[in-house]
Amino acid sequence: MILGLGSGSTSELFVRELGERLRHEKMTIRAVATSDRTAQIASTYGIHLIDPESVGHLDLALDGADEVDPEFRMIKGRGGALLREKIVASAANQRIIMVDRSKLVDRLGSRHELPVEVSNFGHRWTSARMAPFATDVHVRLDRHGMPYRTDGGNLILDVRTGPIDNPQTLESQLLAIPGVYETGLFIGLCDILIVAEADDLEIRRKADG
Ligand code: A5P
Repeated sequence: MILGLGSGSTSELFVRELGERLRHEKMTIRAVATSDRTAQIASTYGIHLIDPESVGHLDLALDGADEVDPEFRMIKGRGGALLREKIVASAANQRIIMVDRSKLVDRLGSRHELPVEVSNFGHRWTSARMAPFATDVHVRLDRHGMPYRTDGGNLILDVRTGPIDNPQTLESQLLAIPGVYETGLFIGLCDILIVAEADDLEIRRKADG
């Protein structure tokens, strides 16, 4: 299989488990990583990483999420890898999202700000054009207080929306702003949702969603 490997703490656990299995079982996989961090972890386990340009599609993509609503729509990007994550999820035949129950919400935007990846050039103008959709927009900072840079060298704007009435409409409105590369709204990009509890797993399929 050709896998898409997500980013964030949940995906890291998955990549490590996969790496362990590859050491002990005969499985042939190749993978595309959604971040430098995931690529680094995968490499330590000898997972065969490939360039996205070398394959037409992925069989399966696995990732975490920040919020998931009852229609399996998501907010992603708190880990800063949303652009690559969306490219990878969109190229996969099937998408599995792994969360714990705390990530389930009735309406997206209830708990977290919406991350939006933007161009560094002109980002203040890009940010100002988001004002009609947000109560606050700010540039994400790193732990040194400097603007956070994605693996692609872009900025992240964290957009406080509050509960979002229509994620699809907001997605279109944000993508229409010059300078926006991608939003953390992931719509139609989860086929199977795995919800973890302390000692249990619930597996939900899109049709049940
Ligand atoms: C990375 O950019 C994000 O989209 C993560 O997938 C998301 O933030 C979930 O991360 P955790 O598994 O660390 O909660």
